[in-house]
Amino acid sequence: MTTNTQAKLRQQLRAARTNLTAKEQRLAADGVARQVCRSRYFRTSKRIACYFAADGEIATDALVERIWQTGKACYMPILTYLIGERLWFAPVTPDSKFVANRFGILEPLATSRSLLDARELDLVLMPLVGFDNTGNRIGMGGGFYDRTLAFMHHRHRWHRPRLMGLAHALQQTDPLSTNPWDVPLDAVATDRELLLFNRHKS
Ligand SMILES: Nc1ncnc2c1ncn2[C@@H]1O[C@H](COP(=O)(O)OP(=O)(O)OP(=O)(O)O)[C@@H](O)[C@H]1O
Ligand SMILES: [Mg+2]
Repeated sequence: MTTNTQAKLRQQLRAARTNLTAKEQRLAADGVARQVCRSRYFRTSKRIACYFAADGEIATDALVERIWQTGKACYMPILTYLIGERLWFAPVTPDSKFVANRFGILEPLATSRSLLDARELDLVLMPLVGFDNTGNRIGMGGGFYDRTLAFMHHRHRWHRPRLMGLAHALQQTDPLSTNPWDVPLDAVATDRELLLFNRHKS
């Protein structure tokens, strides 16, 4: 259940990141790109989903460039073809055109044929509002990523996609209380470090 405490925590964490200066944001974006690119998850992935930053989230431009430079394919979630309130992932190239969705977030224009299901991705770089030291995550509260990735609950965790949250270090919280539908992360890249959560048992 979404409690008042969780709503309050979301509010505090969102305020903390929107209060960062433009310079702090730029440094954070560089730091996160460095942490992601040095990870094994990034190096061994071909199809990588990313997102357009909003609301003080870490900018992903440098990362998208690296994805292209290293010959990988970049995707971003779109709401346009929403079925069951799940996200589909549209290819993003240097020629992509973008349009604002119902939340005012830019998303690539794409034909329905070009869309991927989350199961077809190798790595999902996800925005988040808060994370803890075991990879639990809270998002903006829409449940979009949780619904889209619900199949992960029934899948051996060594199967793809890998899930990596991108966050400012100040988004780390005390251990979060979770809901049964929350899908935990395999890793979090902050502006300072790469945190790996060892849940790859059988
Ligand atoms: N697998 C699911 N099936 C049905 N409803 C779901 C599922 N996952 C999440 N939801 C619904 O979504 C709502 C929001 O979930 P939650 O508060 O965990 O969002 P969030 O993790 O912050 O958002 P997001 O996943 O977009 O980052 C919940 O109230 C829940 O009812
Ligand atoms: Mg959740």
